[in-house]
Amino acid sequence: MPSSDAQDGDSEVGEPAAGFRRILLVGFMGSGKSTIGPLLARELSWRFVDLDEAVERTAGRSIPEIFREDGEAAFREMEAGEAERQLVEDGVVLASGGGWPCFPGRMEALPEGTLSIWLEVPPEVALERTTGDEAERPLLTVPDPLRRAKELLAAREPYYRAAHWWVDTARRTPEELVKRLIENLRRDLERPLRD
Ligand code: S3P
Repeated sequence: MPSSDAQDGDSEVGEPAAGFRRILLVGFMGSGKSTIGPLLARELSWRFVDLDEAVERTAGRSIPEIFREDGEAAFREMEAGEAERQLVEDGVVLASGGGWPCFPGRMEALPEGTLSIWLEVPPEVALERTTGDEAERPLLTVPDPLRRAKELLAAREPYYRAAHWWVDTARRTPEELVKRLIENLRRDLERPLRD
């Protein structure tokens, strides 16, 4: 689908949204998945699910505790299992954790009916937004978080790019972004949104 938004910088590309039954938000830590997700879900009268919170609920522990006690690989397994459970639900906006999409073939294997949206964010902005929450994000709890964020983003971008739509979160407020997404969804839907 050609981008309607290309002239002002966003690249919204990929498959039309018609027929989607769930939305998956992907993007780096601090891209706004947990802020935009509930707003979008409310507009659609859908449920919002935060994958990190779902993992924490199932594990009965916080993500930093899981990283500390079991290591990142164990967290990734829990995260993958939880995502599999969530991605069969309809009428859901699911915010993935920043690392979930970043395994070969994962974004390509999304269940049918899933519209994926990449919330783009430059590393500097991501860090500004996550400052104060470092303790909750073990991967950024390092001496030089900006360098780490740049390295991680460089490695992850190819995976995020596999999303159907891409939106730039640095230039708009969450409310503006959601409005824009809803406009795009309405334009592309064969059936109307439930509102
Ligand atoms: C991670 C991102 C976090 C959380 C975990 C690992 C990552 O989620 O899943 O700390 O690998 O980028 P957010 O993107 O919601 O911060």
